[in-house]
Order: sequence, then structure tokens, then C-alpha cells
Amino acid sequence: MKLEDVNIYDPDLYVKAVPHETFALLRAQEPVFWQELPEGAGYWALLKHADVMAASKDWQTFSAARGGIIIEDQSPQQLAAMRTQLLSMDPPEHIRIRRIVLDAFTPTMIAELEPWLRARAREIMQVAAEKRDCDFVRDLAAELPLQTINQIMAIPEADRLRIVELGDKLIGRTDPEVAARDAAANSATELGAYGFKLANERKGRGGKDLISLMLNAELEGHPLNEVEFAALFVQIAVAGNETSRSLLAGAMLALLENPRAYRELESDFALLPTAIEEMLRWTTPVHYFRRTATRDVELRGKKIREGDRVALHYTSANFDEEVFEEPFRFDIRRDPNPHLAFGWGEHFCLGARLARLEAQVFFEEFFRCFSRAELTGPSRRLRSNLTNSIREIPIRLTPR
Ligand code: HEM
Repeated sequence: MKLEDVNIYDPDLYVKAVPHETFALLRAQEPVFWQELPEGAGYWALLKHADVMAASKDWQTFSAARGGIIIEDQSPQQLAAMRTQLLSMDPPEHIRIRRIVLDAFTPTMIAELEPWLRARAREIMQVAAEKRDCDFVRDLAAELPLQTINQIMAIPEADRLRIVELGDKLIGRTDPEVAARDAAANSATELGAYGFKLANERKGRGGKDLISLMLNAELEGHPLNEVEFAALFVQIAVAGNETSRSLLAGAMLALLENPRAYRELESDFALLPTAIEEMLRWTTPVHYFRRTATRDVELRGKKIREGDRVALHYTSANFDEEVFEEPFRFDIRRDPNPHLAFGWGEHFCLGARLARLEAQVFFEEFFRCFSRAELTGPSRRLRSNLTNSIREIPIRLTPR
């Protein structure tokens, strides 16, 4: 492949598999790459681990707020809506809202979830065990993250399905099977409106769910208002579902392709924590997030101008040969493993601890329940340059 032929923006490129060869070519030849867009303009793609890390930390130069976090430029209204989300804020506003989440979503709160998570994981495995032939994504991987978000937010039972449908539409905006772009915008509005309703119901009452804790936090006289909450709700509902599902689904495929790793893990759960870091690196559920340059800056000889779009390519960074020895080997003992699947710096994922715990519990219960898993058909991926999602994994499971 030649550099002139590269188009890492094209969502079709991601349908069959992650375009690792293209990323590797760019890392070797053009690690700060100008990607043209169909409408004529373009963006800078940062492919190297060191550059993604440095830009993630330098929010003064690479702003999340100025142009939002996806490549496509937004209308002023869309941008205003996007900027109400934590991911698309810069300090000092970002620090204030992030602190509210951090104060409510504590390590203790997450650790206390473990017995609940385990009971849910067992139920999920049992239902799948009765079916035997199932879709690993829908029947197993999607369920635990979904139930967890619903639990920590205390979403009423009757509304749960609708919330996940809306979240899927929002994320799958370039996949014709999932949603058209307008539908994605409408989903964001509907989710936000739902969050607003929840905020009104819970503000001023002493609930212990994450929503009540965030809403009723007293922070230097600036509590979270209902509009700010609605945006945060959209973000947590979406961020916590799709990504964790992708991790579990992608990890399962990796284990099926690496039977030795599968056997080792099922017989020694102590290997799981390092294996989960490798699963995160290997699957990298978010391919990129965007920043916008706030000043002219030079990077590896390229002149990035103020206002230029810059994409932080986590997937490419996680396979950077300069950081990871034999990056294309799935190594459940890889240590250290400084992957960037959760991003880095100012916006480092607030759900990282929860996502790791979910994966730990999920795989322990999976291995306890099933002695064998085999693919019964090809898996299908989401058509997206933003998220590394798998839509379907037909699988046959043999209970112990
Ligand atoms: C495997 C699972 C997950 C992955 C791979 C993941 C990935 C990410 C990434 C790449 C970022 C942006 C980091 C940056 O810009 O530097 C992020 C931010 C965030 N994530 Fe996650 N995430 C996961 C699970 C979760 C869960 C379970 C939750 C909530 C329950 C969550 C909530 C958030 C929030 C609120 C932010 C915004 C933080 C900020 O802007 O300060 N994530 N995540």
C-alpha cells in the first residue's frame, strides 16, 4: 500500500478488521499524517504512542472544547450541546464537573459492587448455558455493562431497554444498520431529556445512587444543575456500555484465536489482571478522540496550525513497536503494558476501575460456567472509524 492510497477516515476500512497494517505503515513513514476528508478539508492523525500521550496531557494546545471530540465539524448548536459533555470540556470547567463525578464514583463504591456484579454475571451465564447456541455480544458481553450502569444510576426497570437503544444509535452513527446521522442527534436529545427528568426527580432527595450523589454534591457553592447533569447522564450511559461490551467481545475473540491463553486463564484466575490489560490494549474500544489546536505548533516536522483538527489514535498508539515488544502478539503476561485504551491525562477514563472489575468478574464466571466455547459462524463488526465494536459473535457454549 502507498501513502497516497491511505484513507483512515473511511468507515468501510474498519468493517472487516481493524486496519492495523495501514496504521503500522503510517507509524513507520508518516506518524503525523494529514488525512484528507471527502468534503475537502482534513485533519492531523497522531499515530505514535508518545505523541498521543503528550497531546492528551497538553490541553492548552490541544483543546477538547474548541471543536469537540469527533472529526466531523459540528454546527454551532451541535457544538454547544457537545460542550456540555465532560469529554468535550477544557479546564477550568472540566475540573469542576470531573471532580463531582470523582467524588461520587469512588473506589469504595465500585469495590462494593463486586458481589452484585458476580450475581448478575452468574445469571447471565446461566441464561446463556440454557441456550447453548447464542450471540456472545448480545447475550453475554452486552448484558453485564448494561445492567451495571442501570444499577449504579438506579434507572427504573421499565426504561432500561430504551436507554440502551438510544445509546447504540448515538454511537453507531456511521453504520447504516444502526442509525442515520439525524437519528443519532435525536437520540442524544432524547437521552438528555430523560436525564433531565431524572435530575428533577432526584434533586434535593437523599438517594445513594450515582445520579443522586452527583446531583446533590455540594461543591464550592456550584452544585451540578439539571442541564449539566443531563449531559453527564448521556455521557455515562453511552461511555459505560458500548466500550465495556467491546472489550468483553473483542477479548473473547482474542481468546478463541489464542487457545493456549484461553486454557491458561481458565485454569489460573490470578493471571486475569494482567490479561485484562492486554485485552484492553488488543481491543482498544475507542479508536480515536479529536482535539483542536489552539495555536500553531510543530510536531515531527509537521506544522499544525491553530484551528486544525487533530485525532489521537489510541488504537495505533497501542500497537506502537517502539513501546510494545511484538505488538501483534496477544500476550496475557505482558507487563508493563502502558496501553492508552482509557486515554491519558486530563480526560483519562472515569470508568476504568469499573470496566476492569466488570471484565475480571465476567471472565471468572464465564470460565466457571463453561468448559468449551466455539465459534459457529463469522463475527460481524460495526462500520465505524470511532469505536472498535463487534456486533455479533455466533458461539456454541458447553456448560461444565
Ligand atoms: C473498557 C471500557 C472503557 C473504555 C475502553 C473507555 C475509554 C475511554 C476513553 C478513551 C476516554 C477518553 C480519555 C481521554 O480523552 O483521554 C474515556 C473517558 C470517559 N469514560 Fe470511559 N471507557 C470505558 C468504560 C467506561 C465506563 C464503564 C464508564 C462509566 C461508568 C466510563 C466513563 C467515562 C467518562 C465519564 C469519561 C470522560 C472523562 C473526562 O472527560 O474527564 N468509561 N473513556
